[in-house]
Amino acid sequence: MKPGSSLMKHYLQFKDLRAEEYAYLFERTRTIKTRFKNYERYQPLVDRTLAMIFEKASTRTRVSFEAGMYQMGGSVLNLTTGDSQLGRAEPAEDTARVISRMVDIVMIRTYEQSRIERFAAHSRVPVINGLTNEYHPCQILADIYTYIEHRGSIQGKVVAWVGDGNNMANTWLQAAEILGFTVHVSTPSGYEVDPAVAGVRDSACYKVFNHPMQACEGAHLVTTDVWTSMGYEAENEERRKAFIDWCVDDEMMAVAQPDALFMHCLPAHRGEEVTAEVIDGAQSVVWDEAENRMHVQKALMEYLLLGRIG
Ligand code: CP
Ligand code: NVA
Repeated sequence: MKPGSSLMKHYLQFKDLRAEEYAYLFERTRTIKTRFKNYERYQPLVDRTLAMIFEKASTRTRVSFEAGMYQMGGSVLNLTTGDSQLGRAEPAEDTARVISRMVDIVMIRTYEQSRIERFAAHSRVPVINGLTNEYHPCQILADIYTYIEHRGSIQGKVVAWVGDGNNMANTWLQAAEILGFTVHVSTPSGYEVDPAVAGVRDSACYKVFNHPMQACEGAHLVTTDVWTSMGYEAENEERRKAFIDWCVDDEMMAVAQPDALFMHCLPAHRGEEVTAEVIDGAQSVVWDEAENRMHVQKALMEYLLLGRIG
């Protein structure tokens, strides 16, 4: 796709793609992952460059995008706030105008969603959200692919969200609305999911429960996240008290479906949002989830740069 083409797509929120595009991406991910596992070279992105901009820390996002782009034959460059002019107040709009004349695709991890939207509005090339305060679409893409790999379609299933009404929770709600499943949400008081921020219109895609055990009842997937997300560290002490009963443990897993999976986007804090028994136990698929970040993002970059293959 030519830079600036009217067909160009950004991936800033989960709802930027439709259900049938997700069906395509999941199928494509399966092919790309199988080839990778068989050591088959697949390099459709030779001469393409990915710029990654990190305004917050990362392990998985950085490694999965970087390794994935190299595997597809492309190149990667990494910028952070501290080592670029972004840290010296160059506007996101100007940075976008400049970088997008030199590279083919951009991945950004930053604070406010409005910042990545301003960047994308001035970019000639596709921009991917690698996490903002509001959303983490690449993670949910990997999580749903992981669910499908283990259990088949997620349509009609129940996902229990235990913990903070944060970027991950918002994105799960968006995904539920698009892909036709339900999220059972339980957060401490004061940390609820805001459907307006989550950007969902259909209230049937989620149900709110006061107690985390109620949210887990009958769930096909139980998932959680850190009590304090990046950027909210000043609230750490207050959050540790508020979230004390929102720790996914064996009792919560026991009321879910017998074959329920456990997921966590990582990094995890054993003994806070999840017990070691659960995250290191038989129902946990957290390592597959982390690995699948790379495979789904390869399919996503291929789609944004080359469109549908075949
Ligand atoms: N899950 C995730 O996005 O991990 P990183 O913060 O390590 O990138
Ligand atoms: N909610 C977490 C996810 C980290 C991958 C955060 O934003 O820090």
